[in-house]
Parts: sequence; C-alpha cells; structure tokens
Amino acid sequence: MSALILALDTTSREEALRIASLTADHLDAIKIGYPLVLGAGLSIAGEIAALGVPVIADFKVADIPNTNTLICDQVFAAGCSAVICHAFPGGDSLEACVASAHAHGGECFVVCEMSHPGGAEWFSGGVAERFSGMAVTAGADGIIAPATRPARVAALREIIGTKKIYSPGVGAQGAAPEDVKALVDGVIVGRAIYGAADPSAAAREYRDRCR
Ligand code: C5P
Repeated sequence: MSALILALDTTSREEALRIASLTADHLDAIKIGYPLVLGAGLSIAGEIAALGVPVIADFKVADIPNTNTLICDQVFAAGCSAVICHAFPGGDSLEACVASAHAHGGECFVVCEMSHPGGAEWFSGGVAERFSGMAVTAGADGIIAPATRPARVAALREIIGTKKIYSPGVGAQGAAPEDVKALVDGVIVGRAIYGAADPSAAAREYRDRCR
C-alpha cells in the first residue's frame, strides 16, 4: 500500500486549480515544480494547499548551502510541506535543505535516481547508493527513486531503512503502481492523471491501485 501523489505539471494557474480541485479527494499530496511555478507563480502553492492537500515543491534544489537555505525558506513560507533536493552539491548543501525543512515543520526528500531512461546513465554504478547514504547522514526524511526500475528501488531501500521513498515513473513513463507499491511510501503520477479526459476518475483509479 502506498500514498498517491499527483505531479501537477500543468503551466496555467486556472488549469492547475481546476485539476487540483477535481482530484484532491483522491490524493495524499500534490507535487509542483518549475513548469507550474514558472507559469503561475509561487503563490500557487498556497492556493493548492488551501484545498486541503499537502504540497511538495519539486525544485530539485542544487546550490551552495546559503542559496539552498534561501530557496527552501521561500518554499515553506509559500505553504509547501516538503521540498525535493539534489545530493550532488554535497552533504553541506543537503544539510541546509534539511535544516530549513525541519525549521518549518516540513520534510526534505533527496533525488537519488531519476526515472527516465537517461537516469540509468548517471545514477547506476554506485552513485544512487552514495546519494542514499548522504540522505541518511543529512537526516533527510526520504528519497526519490524510480518506479521504472523496481530492483533499484529495492536496492536503495536497503540503505535508507524506514525513511520514505516516493517513486515517479508510473503512468506516462511506463511503470505501474503494482510494480513498486509494496516497496515505497508514495507513488508519483503526473500526465496519466492531469492529462486524462476525466482526471478525477483517473486519480480514483490510481488511488485504488496504490492501496
Ligand atoms: O508525467 P509523469 O508521471 O511522467 O511525471 C513524473 C514527475 O516526476 C515529473 O514531475 C518529473 O519531473 C518527476 N520526476 C521524475 N523522476 C525523478 C524525479 C522526479 O519523473 N527521478
């Protein structure tokens, strides 16, 4: 059983709020990122949160510690409950994100392996394992790992123990909830829900398949 997280990668405020309203009852969280925030402004985070669904900011934060702190502080001030960061800038940069998240009562997730085909080029061979270890050391709340490669999710689970795993790649990228739901805490679905003719029905179906 896993939570269901909608990746709301639409670019217009109106469309985002329409889909969020239609689907919120079936979701555990909504993930927003550059497509929506660049199109609609960061205030969209608070508007979505006001619907009663937690908002995860997928900014894949990857800078020096001070800049990471400034970015994460803005994310949480805007009403987000969690932020997603990269590990490759180093442990101090990651710790800055974790500190900001926890100072605001929020959570920090670390991208450990990307879900697209190119993700296998860089993250395999020990890098994702190293990032997962960094997530543990920095006190992060969980990691992002690919539903498209369940064996990799299982390998990273060995490293992070009971920390959360949120897993994208379900739907448009080809994976199914059933591939990973026993391994992860949350399944992330984007286009297969927000691009469906009936987003509410699609969200309900994915929620049922995650249970
Ligand atoms: O539309 P789709 O279901 O493919 O959306 C997946 C979402 O998860 C997108 O927002 C994408 O940026 C994000 N993501 C991913 N793989 C990662 C990390 C994030 O697909 N490793």
